[in-house]
Amino acid sequence: MRGALLALISPTMIRQQLLPKINEFMRSFLCNWDNKVINIQDKTKEMAFLSSLKQIASTESSSVAKEFMPEFFKLVLGTLSLPIDLPGTNYRAGFQARKNILKILGQLIEQRRESEASHKDMLGYLMRNDDSNRHKLSHDEIIDQIITILYSGYETVSTTSMMAVKYLHDHPTVLEELRVIFETSRLVTIVNGVLRKTTREMELNGFVIPKGWRIYVYTREINYDPLYPDPLAFNLWRWMDKGLESQSNFLIFGGGTRQCPGKELGIAEISTFLHYFVTRYRW
Ligand code: HEM
Repeated sequence: MRGALLALISPTMIRQQLLPKINEFMRSFLCNWDNKVINIQDKTKEMAFLSSLKQIASTESSSVAKEFMPEFFKLVLGTLSLPIDLPGTNYRAGFQARKNILKILGQLIEQRRESEASHKDMLGYLMRNDDSNRHKLSHDEIIDQIITILYSGYETVSTTSMMAVKYLHDHPTVLEELRVIFETSRLVTIVNGVLRKTTREMELNGFVIPKGWRIYVYTREINYDPLYPDPLAFNLWRWMDKGLESQSNFLIFGGGTRQCPGKELGIAEISTFLHYFVTRYRW
């Protein structure tokens, strides 16, 4: 499943297929914000969801968005709620939302199967069956992939974009998007740790961790460590040295074989959003 996802969001796919869609989407999404009070938190949430939806199902995205978006927001709330399965709880609403999402996506896939038209978007690639070397994904696997893409690129992309706007506001002279994204991600640390399981007994700083233990590597702590001089300061210049990104303490996107596969895609989306935001508006 990870392999199928990686193929879908590889640098070549981003360059050839996804960036034009992201660009088109951001250009129209960031329209008509003049002379209005804009709630950046709400807007960045919508942006992250709608941008992914456009990449997944470009032709149908505008027609399904109205029905899909509220269900998706309920699903997200449900996944981070107390597991109390009673009417009226976010947990119950999350399960109901998941059922509704499965229905919406199921219908979308059905319609595409019936029409037989080819689509150059993520769903089109997931449904393709003209390559015998590839493992053909089942209906449920396709839906799982779509929910994974929507979910993983939601809170991460929306919160980084929102906080980048805040830091740009606090430091109006800095307009270099990539470094803004790294420094914002470090200070905000949206995914504050990664989960791993020990495959053998190991010793760390005098402590023995038995085989099979689940450990949580709290990366937030590393991001605020004096490894980064004056760690609480928003300082873009620390990223001037490109080597910083390749150091072992750079854990914004996790590390090792499970490192975030959406790193480049996330950066492309946030950069495009910030580009249109700072070139079109003053606030
Ligand atoms: C600013 C944006 C993002 C940040 C900061 C971020 C961060 C992370 C982190 C820290 C992990 C855990 C990695 C590990 O265990 O070593 C992760 C995993 C993951 N991310 Fe992202 N992510 C971002 C955007 C995205 C996007 C746009 C996608 C879209 C597909 C995505 C898909 C995933 C997936 C599928 C995993 C699980 C990978 C696995 O366990 O094999 N991420 N992300």
